[in-house]
Amino acid sequence: MLRPILRLGDSILCEPARAVDAITPEIDTLIDDMIATMYAAPGIGLAAPQVGVSLRIFVIDLSLGKDPTALQVMINPEFVERDGMQLEEEGCLSVPGFTATVARPRRVVVKGLNRQGEEYTLDGTGLLARALQHEVDHLNSCLFVDRLRGIARDLILRKIKKLSKAGQW
Ligand code: NI
Repeated sequence: MLRPILRLGDSILCEPARAVDAITPEIDTLIDDMIATMYAAPGIGLAAPQVGVSLRIFVIDLSLGKDPTALQVMINPEFVERDGMQLEEEGCLSVPGFTATVARPRRVVVKGLNRQGEEYTLDGTGLLARALQHEVDHLNSCLFVDRLRGIARDLILRKIKKLSKAGQW
């Protein structure tokens, strides 16, 4: 089932998400819905708070569903390593229509649980590293816009305010 994606301005996006303590049938359904919602958007990643559930779960698929081995589901992720630096354009399904250049570590290693509840690690560079950090940010109540400074950030927030006032956000 597709779930509506919350947009910047919704308070759930600003709350630190809670850890998952058991993979119940409800969590399993939530994960199925998150995958379907990500593919339908389409997007390369989605975190549970974006569909209004404040739990530490994200899904990522850099292939947009084309490669069946590319789908990653991670529960309760934690950074194990972060190194280097990359500057790339980034966007978010909760901030549709906007992108900005965001500085991120070049490589990350993230540890968490898969949907069977087994621990595994993901080692990513480039776009995967960026996506992993972007999704963990969502769980810690941070959107990519919050990582911008000065004019870049103000410009996006001002445009969104205008769209909001016009009922277009
Ligand atoms: Ni996002």
